[in-house]
Amino acid sequence: MFNDRVLSGMRPTGRMHIGHYHGALRNWIRLQEEHECLFFVADWHALTTHFDETEAISDTVWEMFVDWLAAGLDPTRATLFIQSRVPEHAELTLLLGMIAPVGWLERVPTYKDQQQRLADRDLSNYGFLGYPVMQSADILIYRANMVPVGEDQVSHIELTRELARRFNHIYGQETGFEEKAKAAVKKLGSKKAKRYNELRAAFQEKGDEAALATARELLEDTQNLSLGDRERLFGWLEGARRVILPEPQPLLTEAPRVPGLDGQKMSKSTGNAIFLREEPAEVTRKVRTMQTDPARVRRTDPGNPELCPVWSLHQIYSDQTTRDWVWKGCTTAAFGCLDCKQPVIEAILKEQAPMHERAQKYLDDPQLVRSIIADGCERARKLAEETMVDVREAMGLRYT
Ligand code: TRP
Ligand code: SF4
Repeated sequence: MFNDRVLSGMRPTGRMHIGHYHGALRNWIRLQEEHECLFFVADWHALTTHFDETEAISDTVWEMFVDWLAAGLDPTRATLFIQSRVPEHAELTLLLGMIAPVGWLERVPTYKDQQQRLADRDLSNYGFLGYPVMQSADILIYRANMVPVGEDQVSHIELTRELARRFNHIYGQETGFEEKAKAAVKKLGSKKAKRYNELRAAFQEKGDEAALATARELLEDTQNLSLGDRERLFGWLEGARRVILPEPQPLLTEAPRVPGLDGQKMSKSTGNAIFLREEPAEVTRKVRTMQTDPARVRRTDPGNPELCPVWSLHQIYSDQTTRDWVWKGCTTAAFGCLDCKQPVIEAILKEQAPMHERAQKYLDDPQLVRSIIADGCERARKLAEETMVDVREAMGLRYT
């Protein structure tokens, strides 16, 4: 409904590893070339599960930002910020909480999953139940339409869409909506107005989804509308409500599974990770001692790449020629595992060299990251405030 805007967040986990890079960061870095982007560290989200482990949060947040910048996020292109530094997120979370049915929250699949997976933690809190509402607020407060996330987060985006729809339904009513909408149509100019009315009729009378999409594009290309009229015209397409909070879409880009050194999912907490700014000697040592096909005990035993996590790294780091070489050499025992690992080691070192280089100025001057993030928080806050003005107004909290 507004311009394309990308938003995503990550919990503060500290140093980033190559799993984060290939799973999310690389995609963010690509997106910043094409779209307006906002990326943040979701520090309040950490408290929903780890409310009693707060001493390390601030260090981990700064480490993460250094890694984000080192990986190639560019603060002149993307707005980087800390969730809790934009307290409007809390205000919108509270307000959305008023219309979030508890049943919806209990049915979010991660709710029960996490309670089972983190059985040793006390997750019977209001904050934990409500954390998808907070995630919805994170997204809706920027009226972001694209949210790059992994498969595990799709149910949260779906909830965000439902909450936005419910919000617009309840608070998008205004007296005299129809007259105001019709007046706004006139402001499009006669040609566009005619086209708008045709497309609206095609959607409303025949359920023509393509017409709806075209009409939205037409509105997106129209510059000289006030915010209120935009909301009315988007809302009028579908019904008799303003669209104050547009519904976002998940942006699912296929991300390779990055195995850890033991073949399990890479994770900092299980100690099987290769970090983004790892010393080259450490990268070499870690890959050289990495788990391989367990059946390949001796150099002369042929192996099965399908059972080997190193093969998964070749999928990420090697070209087809190298992969053919691996497959043949492994299954015929033509070489040993150390030979096989060498191209992976080299590719990781090559990937990381520019990261070390970019990180240096931030390590030399820790103030630099602080000031980049302070700018980002300020920019984010301005955008968040624009939405909140509208939200408060729609909810009757304007007090003029
Ligand atoms: N819940 C997400 C995760 O655990 C992080 C997150 C918080 C997020 N708020 C967000 C992701 C908003 C996308 C958009 O990975
Ligand atoms: Fe794995 Fe390569 Fe060893 Fe085969 S040769 S088991 S693919 S490390």
